[in-house]
Amino acid sequence: MFQRLQQKWKVNGWRLLLILITFATGGSLCGYLGRLIISQLNIGQPVIRIIIYIVIVTILWPFCVILISIPTGQFNFFRAYLTKMGQRMVGKQPATADRAETSSNEENQNKLIMSQKENNTTSTPFRIAIFASGAGSNAAKIIEYFKGKPETEVALVVCNKPGAGVLGIAQKAGIPTLLIEKEQFFRGNGYVDELQHANIGFVVLAGFLWKVPTSLIQAYSGRIVNIHPALLPKYGGKGMYGMHVHNAVIEAKEKESGISIHFVDEVYDHGAVIYQAICTISDTDTPDMLAQKIHQLEHAHYPRVIEEVIAGLQKRS
Ligand code: GAR
Repeated sequence: MFQRLQQKWKVNGWRLLLILITFATGGSLCGYLGRLIISQLNIGQPVIRIIIYIVIVTILWPFCVILISIPTGQFNFFRAYLTKMGQRMVGKQPATADRAETSSNEENQNKLIMSQKENNTTSTPFRIAIFASGAGSNAAKIIEYFKGKPETEVALVVCNKPGAGVLGIAQKAGIPTLLIEKEQFFRGNGYVDELQHANIGFVVLAGFLWKVPTSLIQAYSGRIVNIHPALLPKYGGKGMYGMHVHNAVIEAKEKESGISIHFVDEVYDHGAVIYQAICTISDTDTPDMLAQKIHQLEHAHYPRVIEEVIAGLQKRS
């Protein structure tokens, strides 16, 4: 039951506990105030007392939970929760993100294709999200590249690390950022609702170090690409990222390395390779020197390859 609530409300275990405490304390406060008011009203008829008590408690409850939500730090949750309840009571549909929660992956896929078709026929730019965990030099190059291309917009930067360099890069470029939580990413639905709400049609991983969950892969099937700093299938898999890759390549005395741009599937660094570029390694190269060569290749090729993949998708849909 608790897991279902966590998924439904998209919160981690700790937040769920605070929300439940708010519900319980707010409810008790409401009951206490209701009894206090009734005792002041001096109503003799027990049935009327009960009816008036129920009316008072119904009116007081939202105020009580909102009041308690302030010290428990859950004000935003309860504001959204009560707004949604209010909308339901007056017969209005809840917000888009909540409706998306119940839609199947197939529906999600159709929505993406539809939004892309709309993009093809109007001048609305096609919206991409960059997922990154670190310094963000690739993200910076992609942002810069698409600035000059009105048909495609880097509309969102998603990051799992507070304080990561990529967040500053996005903010400087005026691009909205989304800081994601492990619990919701892996146990919720991989932030699919948020991406769809932002009308994202394509996901680019640029130094994003968490494994992409199945929910996100299915919702964006064939629409997530990654860049890996080696010539896959060599030096890929769990734990193989950034300097770990370059250390392993140098240690193995390879004569060349390179970059692999590939589609993302459920296995680390496994999806179909779209593009590879090679650089040579001399005997005196250190892992840091190799990292520099790799970054140069990434910056030179990744933005263009992303553009080509998107163009291919748009032609097909
Ligand atoms: C890049 O070299 C990218 O290939 C690598 O992380 C670096 C991020 O650099 N990704 C992986 O290793 C994924 N397995 P950046 O933050 O400067 O773009």
